[in-house]
Amino acid sequence: MLHIVYESRTGQVKRFVDKVHLAFLRLKSPETPSDALVFHRISKGNIPNISTPFHMLTYTDGFGVVPEITQAFLDHGHNGRNILSIGSSGNKNWGTHQYGRAADIIAHAWDAQLSLKWELAGTVNDVVAFMKYLHSFENESRLTSPLA
Ligand SMILES: Cc1cc2nc3c(=O)[nH]c(=O)nc-3n(C[C@H](O)[C@H](O)[C@H](O)COP(=O)(O)O)c2cc1C
Repeated sequence: MLHIVYESRTGQVKRFVDKVHLAFLRLKSPETPSDALVFHRISKGNIPNISTPFHMLTYTDGFGVVPEITQAFLDHGHNGRNILSIGSSGNKNWGTHQYGRAADIIAHAWDAQLSLKWELAGTVNDVVAFMKYLHSFENESRLTSPLA
């Protein structure tokens, strides 16, 4: 089982996650359980303890910073120690240095891999790139890649 924790303020990360979920359900083999990918949305009133390794998706806030709730989640309990990878939605209008920078900051702070940076709700190519990235963790979970 692969756990994906995400934060979305205005809905773009949520839309990306929905597309990833749909692609997984469409492409998975009949033997792959539908709960091989589990999604956890964090929000102001919902900062859970995730006591298992997880992949995280978030967005980048004003001038290249980590969103407050994402930061609070990583600082909570052992969450930060369980993060495997981080991806960030962003907008290239913010410039190369600030684009998706939350992912760089979190990857560095928590020794996590950088899975992906994508713009807004992401393209089909972004969804495929993220699925391929998850596939690289196949040996650590029961997930059978639908892309194989
Ligand atoms: C106030 C504000 C600041 C932002 N700052 C950045 C930034 O520094 N770098 C970046 O790549 N995107 C930045 N963005 C774009 C968001 O990361 C992007 O719209 C993202 O898709 C939002 O995700 P969400 O809709 O799930 O909250 C900013 C957006 C807003 C509204």
